[in-house]
Amino acid sequence: MKGIGGRVGPDLTDLGARRNTVYIRQSIEDPGAYIVPGYQPDMPSPDKLRLSASDIDNLVAFLAGLK
Ligand code: HEM
Repeated sequence: MKGIGGRVGPDLTDLGARRNTVYIRQSIEDPGAYIVPGYQPDMPSPDKLRLSASDIDNLVAFLAGLK
């Protein structure tokens, strides 16, 4: 799974090894709260991405498992 993301946004390949679930959830629910150095504040809101609450739960669990 190496190389997921990395052009527009950060590489998420090993996100679960680098970030905790609280941070991962915040980065999806409120992307402007913290901007990863070297990137623009371009991440769309969950509303724009059409993510439901359960979509977000599933994404957090999936991304936290990427190690
Ligand atoms: C379901 C879709 C998406 C998920 C789950 C997601 C997830 C994430 C996560 C977890 C981070 C933080 C990464 C880190 O701390 O290393 C991040 C950052 C970022 N994402 Fe996304 N992303 C999504 C869609 C997008 C889209 C569509 C764009 C651009 C059009 C985008 C642009 C960015 C950018 C520019 C950053 C870095 C700046 C910042 O910290 O906000 N993302 N994303």
